Amino acid sequence: MAPDPASIGIDGKVIQEHYENLADSYNEFLYWSPDFVGQMTDKIVNMLALQPDDLLIDLGGGTGMYSLAILERVSLNNPITVVDPFPEMLEKIPDEAPIIPVAAEAVEYSEKAPVCSKILMKEAVHHVDRKAELFRNLHGSLRESGRILLVHVDPHKVEYPLFDAALENARQSFANPDDMIQLLEGAGFEAHRDEFVYPHDVPTDRYHRMVEGRYMSILTSLDEEQMQAGLDEMRVRDAGTDRLRFTETFSYILGVKAA
Ligand SMILES: C[S@@+](CC[C@H](N)C(=O)[O-])C[C@H]1O[C@@H](n2cnc3c(N)ncnc32)[C@H](O)[C@@H]1O
Repeated sequence: MAPDPASIGIDGKVIQEHYENLADSYNEFLYWSPDFVGQMTDKIVNMLALQPDDLLIDLGGGTGMYSLAILERVSLNNPITVVDPFPEMLEKIPDEAPIIPVAAEAVEYSEKAPVCSKILMKEAVHHVDRKAELFRNLHGSLRESGRILLVHVDPHKVEYPLFDAALENARQSFANPDDMIQLLEGAGFEAHRDEFVYPHDVPTDRYHRMVEGRYMSILTSLDEEQMQAGLDEMRVRDAGTDRLRFTETFSYILGVKAA
């Protein structure tokens, strides 16, 4: 059953439409390269200090891209629980993977989340509007010394080869790392901050196709006219350029529950 848009979080209807439409191409667009996913995941594994006995929840885990990459690196003794409001995203997780998919919105799930030792939220926290409540609930579910890791693009360091309206949307929508630290501390966590900068080097036509396919939710919230104008601007700017090179800066914010 489709979730009630009002319960999903910020811009519920737009976000629902975005992920329902994107589900089929999410992995094609967002799995930039094995090197990118590998380096992002190595840092996740290190910061979460994942151990075989951990009980891991991947909140807003979508198609399970990062849970699957984690499983390639750590032999977890228990399946990972991947939580996402949209079944269209969860359906992309291979049936044979040791992953339990749960269709639920983050705050609603957190209200009765099972006891766990590690939580990952990768590029999902900006969709949740009741973040303070979410972190308080998750603090309650985590074991002593448990960890929560938020990974997301830093809105102060957005450098996509997009166009002004999209870039402004990104700066407004992505989660501010300082705010996340404050909220985690407010919920009782000790917070630590780190960063990861990846230098993308992608064929221009591939990136243009991703933008046409509205590969990020900040593009879905633009109307058709803004999108067409933006794409025209990109095609003129990038004419004669085979590849686009730009950096993506991810903020990694860790919350540790006291022992
Ligand atoms: C950019 S995707 C990231 C997916 C996955 N974590 C990854 O990195 O590949 C954001 C995910 O957050 C999910 N999402 C959106 N609103 C949410 C909410 N209120 N609670 C939990 N997940 C949500 C979306 O369905 C989507 O799968």
